[in-house]
Amino acid sequence: MVIQPEIQGVVARTAHPYGCQQAVQQQIDYVQSVAPMTQGPLRVLILGASSGFGLASRIALTFGGAQAETLGVSYERGPSDKGIGSAGWYNNIFFKQAAEQQGYIAKNIVGDAFSDEVRQHVAQTIRDEFGGHIDLVIYSLATGIRPDPETGEVWRSCLKTVGENFSGYSVDLENDELVPAELTAANDEEIFATTKVMGGEDWQQWINFLLSENLLAPKAKTLAYSYIGPESTYPIYHHGTLGIAKQHLHQTAIAINQQLAQMINGQANIVVCKALVTKASVFIPTFSPYILALFKVMKQMGNHEGCIEQMQRLFAQKIYSAAGTEKKQCNDSDEQSDLALIRMDDWELKPEVQLQVNKLMAEMNADNFRQVGDYAGYKSAFLALNGFGLSSVDYTQPVDIEELSRLAP
Ligand code: NAD
Ligand code: NA
Repeated sequence: MVIQPEIQGVVARTAHPYGCQQAVQQQIDYVQSVAPMTQGPLRVLILGASSGFGLASRIALTFGGAQAETLGVSYERGPSDKGIGSAGWYNNIFFKQAAEQQGYIAKNIVGDAFSDEVRQHVAQTIRDEFGGHIDLVIYSLATGIRPDPETGEVWRSCLKTVGENFSGYSVDLENDELVPAELTAANDEEIFATTKVMGGEDWQQWINFLLSENLLAPKAKTLAYSYIGPESTYPIYHHGTLGIAKQHLHQTAIAINQQLAQMINGQANIVVCKALVTKASVFIPTFSPYILALFKVMKQMGNHEGCIEQMQRLFAQKIYSAAGTEKKQCNDSDEQSDLALIRMDDWELKPEVQLQVNKLMAEMNADNFRQVGDYAGYKSAFLALNGFGLSSVDYTQPVDIEELSRLAP
């Protein structure tokens, strides 16, 4: 069968397996083309490894110099009568293939990271395949739901403001339009649920579990990814439900940092990333105009990065550089003093970038957003996430689903 992109709103209903393979390969090629990490972790557990920042971390740590062995957890769909399967499914398969070809251990566990079953499976795999210890745990889950491990009740996050409603625009990728969108104010229950899903509780539980099972090496580190953004977006992000959940994540980092320091001489950090097009971020209503403007400005200034550029710079220059991550170097004076934030949003938040972004945002409307903002870049980044639009793939060729079904993650 020949696979074409099918987009509904901001959701891709199809993915191209060989396009995903090429997208993974392009990221591998990138990290091999820049200055390598000269140190790094040997064995890494990545929760949320199949796309976005988690996948980019995995690629950077394996192919960007550190030669890490990786265990990736993700929630993805394989081929079935319902369809070809999700992009992340193929990212897992083709990352592993590429890693194994170079002699690196790469294992995938596909399942619900919130479940006890997956935790047990991870523990067993660390014992069996990773010599019993992990040096780095990356927490990069992005999801809208989390089951309560005690009761089975499901928490659902919501993307809302806190306080006042916000009216703006969102990109409609299906029709290439900018459409009016509104964020309504969340109630207390919705704020609570969002914090349960995207805050730090599950990260803390993972670390407790790994410690209690004695699976963390001495001096092991853990990282969780976050977003803050410029003040102009505070009403829709930093001060909204997701931002409150992220503040909880940041508070959790302080607790985990103390715990790891005491128990294994380890460390926890929050990495504040740049706003980028990922499967998760396209969902945030009224946020896309900011990304359109940001991409336009940063590409013009020559300091635009995607997930892979962000993650290679993070590990090579901020975490595993010769200087290391001494806490004093990554403290952020605006935040609580014992919270070590690593700022990968440093270029995004440059005053000259934000000045231009604000100008473009003020001009942008439903008629001119394709010119004023980088809509072409936004759309092609979205398509590439699903394996479409890659120059090295012949999309007129049918793919053999039976052959693909035999590939296991
Ligand atoms: P993404 O959708 O590309 O990746 C999410 C990953 O989580 C996937 O691997 C998915 O399979 C996995 N996942 C989701 N639910 C799961 C479950 N129940 N069990 C196991 N795996 C599950 O998202 P992303 O944008 O890379 O987000 C990762 C982190 O980065 C999030 O914390 C996000 O807030 C943060 N971040 C994103 C941006 C951005 O602009 N995209 C910016 C800064 C920070
Ligand atoms: Na991720």
